[in-house]
Amino acid sequence: MALWLRRLRQPGPDYIVRAVHGKRTIPNEPIMSVAHSEPHPRRRFVRAWLLIVAALVFATAALGGATRLTGSGLSIVEWRPVMGALPPLSDEAWHAEFAKYKTIPQYQEVNRGMSLEAFKVIYWWEWGHRLLGRVIGVAFLLPFLWFLWKGWIEPGLRLRLWTIFGLGALQGAVGWWMVTSGLAERLSVSPYRLAFHLTLACTIFAMLLWTAQRLKPRDGIDLPPRIRTRAMLLLILVLAQIYLGALVAGSRAGLIYNTWPLIDGALVPDVSRLFFERPWWRNFFENTLLVQFNHRMLAYAIFALAILHTANVARASRGGAALTGALVLASLITLQAGIGILTLLHVVPLGLALLHQAMAVVTLAVAVIHAERVSQRRAATADIMRPLLSS
Ligand code: HEM
Repeated sequence: MALWLRRLRQPGPDYIVRAVHGKRTIPNEPIMSVAHSEPHPRRRFVRAWLLIVAALVFATAALGGATRLTGSGLSIVEWRPVMGALPPLSDEAWHAEFAKYKTIPQYQEVNRGMSLEAFKVIYWWEWGHRLLGRVIGVAFLLPFLWFLWKGWIEPGLRLRLWTIFGLGALQGAVGWWMVTSGLAERLSVSPYRLAFHLTLACTIFAMLLWTAQRLKPRDGIDLPPRIRTRAMLLLILVLAQIYLGALVAGSRAGLIYNTWPLIDGALVPDVSRLFFERPWWRNFFENTLLVQFNHRMLAYAIFALAILHTANVARASRGGAALTGALVLASLITLQAGIGILTLLHVVPLGLALLHQAMAVVTLAVAVIHAERVSQRRAATADIMRPLLSS
């Protein structure tokens, strides 16, 4: 006992934690040995669950992109969170849904004369997107409550997971708020709300993936703080670029200025054309020239930063997971920029636009995995693993 107490008082490395092997508590067991050991089954369950939910979020975002690009997003003009899970089941119900759609400006000015069969197609897209949103809610909440009941999740992780759940619920409300913007006066949804909806979805996706990665058993990496900061910056910039991309999509800014590298006949258009709206800040959201210009400029900045970051990691680490991550991220950013340019030059064909949106989320996933990997501090790993290792 005395020896045990003396060992506890001894100063040790900051990654020292108490670990549990079976029922026997071993004080001061370094997390490194935990990290090297077989993945604990509970940790594996929680991680697999988070990854499945992240995959569902990815699928929902992709389906949302298809819904927007096929012009289907306004086909369901009501929000019934529970009963809406059932599609129309009779001819009468289909006619009733179609009648509601006929009251909105989009039908009257864009789709007038549309057949019931064509309406069913746009309805199924929107219904599928909303259904997947509901599936995510259930796939997150039920296992979460079960894990909580079993006591497998400690307070720090609990708060983070409740936050993700709260953001998911908010996302449902934001989706409806977005749809309402296209029901009365506009022919499509507000670009502000569309961009917020997509960025929130991507934030939830990033949080799920980051948390799942934190539960992965492995060693930390010692890299200069500068590299960690750049990896985080890249992650934040990719998320910001997704926001700007959604503004391009929402304001249909990809249907004009279909040249590259020139935009409106120049590399940098005239300031008077970039800022003609009043007040000045509205140009950032509503002037299609500035909206598209910003999306291009940020792509160039991200590309340059990714190359610089890869060179820095190569110098600091001489191989390993950090370099692989930086290389894959830089390659994906290059590919994504290439797809973006093709999407623009071909005036946003459905296939390329869908690919560009899906690849944005894949790029974000790699940015998250890479930033989490290089920012991982051993003590932090210990903190988050502790509840799953103790019973
Ligand atoms: C890191 C690089 C890039 C990322 C992460 C990115 C991401 C995105 C995202 C998320 C969207 C919204 C898609 C949607 O909601 O359907 C978008 C739209 C768009 N992006 Fe990019 N983009 C990148 C680079 C570029 C580049 C370099 C160009 C062209 C010069 C470009 C052109 C476009 C166009 C034209 C759209 C509108 C597509 C539509 O209307 O559906 N992107 N981008």
